[in-house]
Amino acid sequence: MTAHDPTTITIPTLATERLILRGWKPADIDPYAAMNADPEMMRHEGGTFGQAATFRLVAELIGLWPLRGCGMWALELRETGEFIGRAGLYEGWDWPGIEAAWTVRRDQWGRGLATEAAAAAIEWGWENLAADHLVSVITPENVASRRVAEKLGFRMTGRGDVGPWKDQALYRLDRPTAG
Ligand SMILES: CC(C)(COP(=O)(O)OP(=O)(O)OC[C@H]1O[C@@H](n2cnc3c(N)ncnc32)[C@H](O)[C@@H]1OP(=O)(O)O)[C@@H](O)C(=O)NCCC(=O)NCCS
Repeated sequence: MTAHDPTTITIPTLATERLILRGWKPADIDPYAAMNADPEMMRHEGGTFGQAATFRLVAELIGLWPLRGCGMWALELRETGEFIGRAGLYEGWDWPGIEAAWTVRRDQWGRGLATEAAAAAIEWGWENLAADHLVSVITPENVASRRVAEKLGFRMTGRGDVGPWKDQALYRLDRPTAG
């Protein structure tokens, strides 16, 4: 039994200082596929893939919202309206918990955008989900992503396999206590 109604759920829209976190649009497929085709973007993500696989991935990311009551948002840069990535709360099949996750287009790296987006997603999660903690699963060599996790307050709990991902750095963030 889940707290949400899967037949009526809509993806909420969140605004931060520089970003809009919103539901996915058909027009996101091309710019997202370009990110997924960039070897530097995908170095720690199992390699590049093309438009058809991007389409399937977006369908999964949208589909997780009614199935899980949370999911990944598309990221839009407020200044230009461009799609520049994704962030949110991912819980795939047999996942070790609700994972805070982030990906930002390469020309926007180092501006704090992943941290800004994830912080908004996490705040939404504490307000709307019953979970007492979130997880993050990061390839150990992905120092930028590990830094994002640390800036958000995650602590590393060990290493382990998650789905097809072997020997990952496992992080945890506990729900803040009230007051
Ligand atoms: C990981 C990723 C989302 C970070 O996005 P971002 O918007 O640049 O992140 P932020 O700017 O919020 O923070 C990045 C931090 O990592 C640090 N960093 C980046 N590269 C680094 C490196 N090679 N060594 C050490 N620190 C590094 C930055 O300095 C920054 O920390 P700081 O604020 O203390 O200076 C982005 O690199 C990305 O999309 N990578 C490809 C996809 C991916 O790996 N996603 C995560 C899967 S777990």
